[in-house]
Amino acid sequence: MYRLTCVNCGESYRPDEIIYTCRSCGHLLAVEYDLDSITVQREVWNHRPLSVWRYRELLPVTIPPVTLHEGGTPLYHLERIGKEIGLPHLYAKHEGMNPTGSFKDRGMTVGVSMALQLGKTTVACASTGNTSASLAAYAAKAGIPAVVLLPAGKVALGKVAQALMHGAKVISIRGNFDRALEMTQELCLSHGLYLLNSINPFRLEGQKTIGFEAVDQLGEVPDRLVLPVGNAGNISAVHKGLSELLALGFIDRLPMMTGIQAAGSSPVVRAIRQGLPEVVPERSPETIATAIRIGAPVNAEKALAAIRKTGGTAEMVTDEEILAMQRDLARKEGIGVEPASAASVAGVRKLTEAGVIDRTERVVCVVTGHLLKDPETVIRQCEAPTEIDADLRSLLSVLQSS
Ligand code: F0G
Repeated sequence: MYRLTCVNCGESYRPDEIIYTCRSCGHLLAVEYDLDSITVQREVWNHRPLSVWRYRELLPVTIPPVTLHEGGTPLYHLERIGKEIGLPHLYAKHEGMNPTGSFKDRGMTVGVSMALQLGKTTVACASTGNTSASLAAYAAKAGIPAVVLLPAGKVALGKVAQALMHGAKVISIRGNFDRALEMTQELCLSHGLYLLNSINPFRLEGQKTIGFEAVDQLGEVPDRLVLPVGNAGNISAVHKGLSELLALGFIDRLPMMTGIQAAGSSPVVRAIRQGLPEVVPERSPETIATAIRIGAPVNAEKALAAIRKTGGTAEMVTDEEILAMQRDLARKEGIGVEPASAASVAGVRKLTEAGVIDRTERVVCVVTGHLLKDPETVIRQCEAPTEIDADLRSLLSVLQSS
């Protein structure tokens, strides 16, 4: 049992209303469960496979879900990087191991299921890439059309390839993500498409399961959860989910929610540093981590509250720091992630060096997308393969010379 509640004024709406923002004050909506009616025991969850649907009592879907087996992603102990940084309890939850290679699949299994549950027949989103890839795949699985709007020339190759191959109508706009999102909202409101960006409260319900899994895998609540922040939906979702577990008495405290942004695209970091009540949008965000190249994060008010309430923080990292950590994760830990994902671990390095993160903390970084999402940025950082004649002498000579 649940309803939709405005995060600002508390106005509530029926769960079957197609509504994305509060009619009274225009702020975002969240799914609010009647927690007294949730009687599931943790042991019941523990007996189910680790996945988004392990936690179905805290999800809004009542029909058989549209699923590609999302969630259940590995939690790795970053032994080498942790040692270098001086953090023995540093972990990475590799969301790149989801069906389309990013955490968005957790949101889309719930979001696209809700589209069907609500009787919607076409879905749409704006995207820096991953959301579009995921929506395209889940719409394909559901057998309904998807429309995706991308900022032209600013989406990594693998993501565009996925959206196209899964059969979405892919449209590149000559503008940035923030503009694409405005246009998609207008389109959905005027033409009845179902909007599956992170202002959709149901999609975020799926994403909150990252936090549930991290707690289950670690066997305790981490001291700190660190996420890369773009539109700020994911950090808000994880905080919301863990707050529900706290209210249910399943956990006894919340982790310090910590958001990392790219230096060229950091409105949330600036708001936290300056103690502002809301973010000041950036008109021309820029970063190599195109997934989080977002100047006006729509979920910022929830993210700021999550960070402040839990005693967390926000930090920015340069493109160089992001790429250096992408290489470190790949070469020292065997973990292949896209640039935006490396931002979380790069931020931890910086915050630990600055003394903000205590060396005894248990820190879980969410690494959000797979290395293969953005092969061009990878290739640009690496030396080309050595090409030789097809004989053993040439092979030995090249191996000896290196
Ligand atoms: N990491 C990756 C790989 C992402 O694709 C995104 C967002 C984020 C982090 C940030 O998450 O927006 O919830 O704060 N990508 C969206 C997209 C915007 O369109 O794929 P957030």
